[in-house]
Amino acid sequence: MIKKIAILTNGGDAPGLNAVIRAIVKVAERNEIECYGFIEGYKGLLNNNYIKLESSGNAAGLLHRGGTIIGASNSTNVFNYPVKNENGETEYVDLSDKCIENLNNLGIDCIFTLGGDGTQKSARDFSLKGVKVIGVPKTIDNDVAHTDVTFGFNTAVEVATEALDRLHTTAASHNRVMVLEVMGRYAGWIALDSAIAGGADVCLIPEIPYDINKVVDKIRNRAKRGKNFSIVVVSEGAKPLNGEITVKRTLDEGKGVDNVRLGGVGDVVAKQIEDITGIPTRNTTLGYVQRGGSPIPFDRILSTKFGYKAIELALQGTFNVLVTYNGGHLSYASLEDVVGDNKVIGAPSRKY
Ligand code: F6P
Repeated sequence: MIKKIAILTNGGDAPGLNAVIRAIVKVAERNEIECYGFIEGYKGLLNNNYIKLESSGNAAGLLHRGGTIIGASNSTNVFNYPVKNENGETEYVDLSDKCIENLNNLGIDCIFTLGGDGTQKSARDFSLKGVKVIGVPKTIDNDVAHTDVTFGFNTAVEVATEALDRLHTTAASHNRVMVLEVMGRYAGWIALDSAIAGGADVCLIPEIPYDINKVVDKIRNRAKRGKNFSIVVVSEGAKPLNGEITVKRTLDEGKGVDNVRLGGVGDVVAKQIEDITGIPTRNTTLGYVQRGGSPIPFDRILSTKFGYKAIELALQGTFNVLVTYNGGHLSYASLEDVVGDNKVIGAPSRKY
């Protein structure tokens, strides 16, 4: 019998996190289950920092709210956690037992991990140590395996599409090439969907290393047909043929979680286009507006369904799984299958 549960939101935030929390808390309370939220993801679990969640209090009015009311951390891997040794050097140590002690002291029967691949990897590792876990797939990048869609993705696509619509009119007015750099570290789902929705002429994604000459050919062909402007969408993880990904900053020699910050490929591509074609070219990097703010209705509904399914699984006694949504059906996949299996364009990895 489940009596107490905890929720954590880990990794970069995504629109819909609060809607998942709301759904879990509502259904849990109906079944006389107490809910807690660890603050800032796995960091809160490690530091025993939590709050009680109540649908008549802090978990009310959350459906439309962006961000996460319990905070998120995207640099915390408690299985490989950076601590300073006596020489002041950073060492990576496994602090997962401390987290399990905190869960036991609070009497948590099951923990709900709202996050992407990194978050679910830690969830899987906790499950191997006997913790009951249920994952919910969150990321605007939409690259979690075994689910057609993650919550937050469609909101990000909407934001990127609106940006493209706006870039179109200014591009046409000035006869310019407009490049839009969007998020998407390992997979180009945001780039591809927004490029289709926004009628872009070129789309560069991490899955297909690009040849700048082909990009330029496309732009020149358009110019020959009297189309004196072009729109290029570039995923932050796109890289040139035989080249490397564009990194903005590397912290701690790239060790640990999320210590390699991507960004800048849009500027690189824009400069190359202008240098080769002579057509004035500008880059816009969309950045964090893609994941901030209110979820669109699709994500509010998906998040509510995910939250409902997650607590339903706990009530049925099904643990160590990730909630999924495939072909319009809610289901689940084992965390073991999901971890390390990014869903990329052209090679869907899901197994039904
Ligand atoms: O994982 C989602 C994501 O939006 C990636 O596309 C991006 O590389 C990353 O988060 C950036 O997040 P942060 O700057 O918070 O580490």
